[in-house]
Amino acid sequence: MLIKTIEEVRALVREWKKQGCSIGFVPTMGALHEGHLSLLKQAVAENDRVIASVFVNPTQFGPNEDYASYPRDIQTDYSLCQSAGVDAVFHPEPEELYLPNRATTVHVTGLTDVLCGAKRPGHFDGVCLVLSKLFSIVNPDRAYFGQKDAQQVAVVRRMVRDLNFGVDVIASPIVREAGGLARSSRNAYLSAEEKAAALVLNRSLSRALQAMQSGERSADLIRRQVADQIAAEPLARIDYVEVVDFEDLRPVQGPMTRPVLVAVAVFFGTTRLIDNVVFGPELEVR
Ligand code: PAJ
Repeated sequence: MLIKTIEEVRALVREWKKQGCSIGFVPTMGALHEGHLSLLKQAVAENDRVIASVFVNPTQFGPNEDYASYPRDIQTDYSLCQSAGVDAVFHPEPEELYLPNRATTVHVTGLTDVLCGAKRPGHFDGVCLVLSKLFSIVNPDRAYFGQKDAQQVAVVRRMVRDLNFGVDVIASPIVREAGGLARSSRNAYLSAEEKAAALVLNRSLSRALQAMQSGERSADLIRRQVADQIAAEPLARIDYVEVVDFEDLRPVQGPMTRPVLVAVAVFFGTTRLIDNVVFGPELEVR
């Protein structure tokens, strides 16, 4: 079922809840690839009914970012959702979600000033605004996010906790291409050489994970090792390499005692790729 209006989503969800169904929700901006599909399949496996949204959210793009050129192909996305077993796809027009005189913002402080948030001012405000709206429209039991966007997971968890949305935020593992490159629609922009060079991201993060699993607890050492390995790749230009606490995203001081996020953003040519690894005894940080 392809749904364009808020009212229809509310009616459908009301019906499902009356039947006692649990509801999973997967928000996306479309251009679906294997990474999105794994979220959809997990949601289908864990819930009685699943709704996905396909909405290129204007409020999370900066003025010089690719909002206008972001790929849009709802028919293909809708078929992919259907074959994954999704029950309904919410695909609103921007005017359906955003009123011209809206006056409300949603800002999560602190967690959004670091990592990608530092480079993309206002981005997470847009993400939090659209997700607040979608959560209150869909009212799901569980919402699924990719660990690929680890900062997004941490920010959304904090927002859901602070605003009592009552949604379980589930983080799904990063889906990778055969060589280990994290799947992203941006991989299509890479030349063959850049794509080969970009394998250094997964390679260096995997080594960091192994080192931590073998007992290394110095955040500084891990950060330096990852940065050195990436810097040794001539086509790579580092945007950031950070080791932060996975809950508050602050740099880890002293030895690691809680789950940590090792996150990198690196340019290959003009294409900026992100990747990360989480290490900790318990991944469900709240
Ligand atoms: P989008 O970039 O379409 O991503 C939708 C979801 O797919 C996100 O939770 C993202 O982390 C996940 N994803 C993307 N690539 C992945 C991969 N290789 N492995 C696992 N998961 C992956 O993220 C957004 O949209 C938007 O910010 C949104 C949450 C929809 C709000 O507008």
